[in-house]
Amino acid sequence: MATRGCRISLADGRELIDGIASWWTACHGYNHPHIAEAVAAQLARMPHIMFGGLAHEGAYRLATRLAARVPSLPHVFFSDSGSVGVEVAMKMALQYWLNQGDTRRHHFLAFLGGYHGDTLAAMSVCDPEEGMHSLFGPALRRQHILPLPRDAATEAALHTLLEREHTSIAGILVEPLVQGAGGMLFHDAATLRRIRAAADAFHLPLIFDEVFTGFGRTGHFFAGPGVGVLPDIMVLSKALTGGTMGLAATLATPAIFESCLSARPEAALMHGPTFMANPLACAAANASLDIFEATDWRGNVARIESGLRSGLAPARTLPGVVDVRVMGAIGVVELATPPDLAALKRAFLARNVWVRPFRSIIYLTPAFTIGAADLACLTDAVLQVLADRK
Ligand SMILES: Cc1ncc(COP(=O)(O)O)c(C=O)c1O
Repeated sequence: MATRGCRISLADGRELIDGIASWWTACHGYNHPHIAEAVAAQLARMPHIMFGGLAHEGAYRLATRLAARVPSLPHVFFSDSGSVGVEVAMKMALQYWLNQGDTRRHHFLAFLGGYHGDTLAAMSVCDPEEGMHSLFGPALRRQHILPLPRDAATEAALHTLLEREHTSIAGILVEPLVQGAGGMLFHDAATLRRIRAAADAFHLPLIFDEVFTGFGRTGHFFAGPGVGVLPDIMVLSKALTGGTMGLAATLATPAIFESCLSARPEAALMHGPTFMANPLACAAANASLDIFEATDWRGNVARIESGLRSGLAPARTLPGVVDVRVMGAIGVVELATPPDLAALKRAFLARNVWVRPFRSIIYLTPAFTIGAADLACLTDAVLQVLADRK
């Protein structure tokens, strides 16, 4: 098996056009030479070094560059995956309170439709109906999971809950603008502003999980900051390394950072994954940022957005389709009921495209470098496979 650009070559010789970019990570396409060269050079120089007592240039440079993109979040903590980055964010919020002597804050508030990862605390803040997690419900910490405040009624419900429970809540988590793995559900900037206002009203740290939305996917470099809404803590992963290897960054405000700054070791954020700030991953991430700086990624995402809009629009008239929606380089066709997923996946493979529907969602999240012809093949395949459905 091999990858190149927007193509996946299978062992049997077939070549697939990739509609998923490996769960949205390979934003510049696979095997980008600039990332490959940077990783190879780092491999020769120093593949790994412990990040306790020692630090390295690649991590400093990456932290500085990430923070420069969101100046209100100048402090950066590296870990290894999106789920762990979310755990770190939750731990930061918990410790923010503990270090102030407030020992009542054991819970979080998150939203229906949300997905934040597969580790235990991350699972506890996902939508409780999340297919992969529902089995574990009784074993997870109980959190407050509310509908997103899309209107006055849901905003009032949010405030009512916070009024009652805020002294036991450590923070609020949300995926800004798009709830990805929970169903590719979109919301607007006004919804996000309502969440920010509620967090402010009750002095709660607001965590943006930008693991899916970060790095241009929605058309903004980061979704929340892109629409003028800033969090107190922000989690990045997935496209951070341009799809080459695992790395996460949890960014925080000075107030969150300073709450863990103390001569007492027990007040520090005691989280030290063995491979934190892995130099290879940092080299890949720095190279990926170089590519963002050197290319017209906004133009590419806008071009993909318009290709997805026109290419998927005819799906609206197909039987069983209840919605077609597009934001940035995310195109979604939603069905009324879950289809025969195995049959759909086989049908996509037969058309030499790599598309992975889940539940009742068929979605495309291609690399930003995909050409017009390949994008049209993907949208045509979605239309054809849905039209041929029995
Ligand atoms: C919004 C969001 N948060 C967290 C995660 C978990 O990331 P990882 O799979 O790297 O642990 C994901 C993964 O899909 C995600 O989409």
